[in-house]
Amino acid sequence: MEHKGQTMDAFIEDVASLVGSVDDEHKITELVAARLSSLLDSGYRLPPEVTRPSDEHHVTYPLYIAPDDSWSLASVVWNVGQRTPVHGHETWGVVGIYAGGERELRYVKPAASGSSGALTPAGEHVWERGQVTVCCTTDDDVHAVVAVGDEPTVGIHVYGGNIGTMSRRLYDPATGAVRWFVSGWDTPAGG
Ligand SMILES: [Fe+2]
Repeated sequence: MEHKGQTMDAFIEDVASLVGSVDDEHKITELVAARLSSLLDSGYRLPPEVTRPSDEHHVTYPLYIAPDDSWSLASVVWNVGQRTPVHGHETWGVVGIYAGGERELRYVKPAASGSSGALTPAGEHVWERGQVTVCCTTDDDVHAVVAVGDEPTVGIHVYGGNIGTMSRRLYDPATGAVRWFVSGWDTPAGG
């Protein structure tokens, strides 16, 4: 137990130090991705209460929120077959697959807000357990995620802000119509 706690504490300390000392989003995400990759490789185990899916929709549990909201760490859990709508993040983000797998469908971020016509697909990729991907920088942050496989998908996500409280865009990919939303945070049950 002690060892596991120290592993996560060290990760949080390292990311806090990177966020506080590096300005460029591309550099931060590269360094955070390397650090997250070693966390996953170390065999780190999340507490079970933050890996539980919901039958309703995918859930986002907070693992750490920086006191100044400069970054946050989340466990995001999809039950089998669940998917997100097409959405943006408005900041940088790094995703590591902890369990299961996800299919990511990327889109070019429209230059302006409002309806700009159908979104342009920018490729898709299946990410599997142990893999780490830079999902977002502020200028390239639009995607949808679909859980694949026959077990719940769990991702450890790092974002350059308090992702549960930020205003973000939802897109209708067919029309480009935008709706702003705040995702909120889910509360682990039985923790
Ligand atoms: Fe996302």
